Amino acid sequence: MKFISIITLCAITSAHEITQLKVPLYADPRRPAVLSCHFQMDDQKLHSVKWYRDMDEIFRYNPSQKPPIRLFNVTGIMVQGGECQIDSCMVKVMPPPVATRAAYTCEVSTEGPKFQIARQTKHMTVVAMPDLDPIISGAPKVLKPGEQIFLNCSSDYSLPPSDINWYIDNELQKPEAWQRTELSAVQPGGLRKSWRVLRLRVPATVSGALRIRCESILLVEPPVVRDTATIITVHSQTQLSKYVSNNRGIKLTANTILLIAVTWTLIEISTFMSL
Ligand SMILES: *[C@@H]1O[C@H](CO)[C@@H](O)[C@H](O)[C@H]1NC(C)=O
Ligand SMILES: *[C@@H]1O[C@H](CO)[C@@H](O)[C@H](O)[C@H]1NC(C)=O
Repeated sequence: MKFISIITLCAITSAHEITQLKVPLYADPRRPAVLSCHFQMDDQKLHSVKWYRDMDEIFRYNPSQKPPIRLFNVTGIMVQGGECQIDSCMVKVMPPPVATRAAYTCEVSTEGPKFQIARQTKHMTVVAMPDLDPIISGAPKVLKPGEQIFLNCSSDYSLPPSDINWYIDNELQKPEAWQRTELSAVQPGGLRKSWRVLRLRVPATVSGALRIRCESILLVEPPVVRDTATIITVHSQTQLSKYVSNNRGIKLTANTILLIAVTWTLIEISTFMSL
């Protein structure tokens, strides 16, 4: 079952070839992945088609044997099925519930006496993308200067679990020693939520709006970033009452102006009518 034919890697080019190797770049650990190998034999006779995961053989098609297809379970993967047509073979594998990257190789060899080999490899990474943006909890609408609160940001389930970054007004907040990213229990497929707490201390001199943003990052290539933001207004009680009364004052003035305008228009109209 091991990859013993390494020496034949340097085999002379043969007339037959692999025309297409379909291996998904990412595999979701919750569903099987389908891999297919398409080949062209020209005038050669097919001896066998083999699939390898890294160095382990997981599939063998040998049309002259009974049964022609044999599947091999290897550590870290479950081979669920395989099927061949005249010019292709597909294999269905259930990815392991861990974030791994493995090489999948298809090997097509011709009948003797030459036993020529065509081979192609592609990599597949087991990843479950988050479906949702992260969620910030514990954020009030208004805070007073000098107040301190704790915010919690939790990501959606993913594999591998996401990293969490906090920003205040676009400035990255370095985690305090106790503020590590924590992980939830494992879901089917190895998915986990992650969450991290931010201690927000409002300086006594600050007032205005704070933009709090939380980012969940899945460290795959390229990274998958999702984020969510919330605005917290900072002002003291005295500022608040000033703000409210100012607002009312403006409204009153506007109403007065409107009243004057309407009265003036009515006077104008009646003057015009009586002409
Ligand atoms: C692989 O393992 C699964 C689960 O243990 C089993 O259902 C399946 O029949 C095995 N396949 C082979 C080819 O041994
Ligand atoms: C933060 O949110 C997560 C997920 O909703 C939860 O499991 C966790 O207990 C929360 N942590 C704190 C300190 O509130």
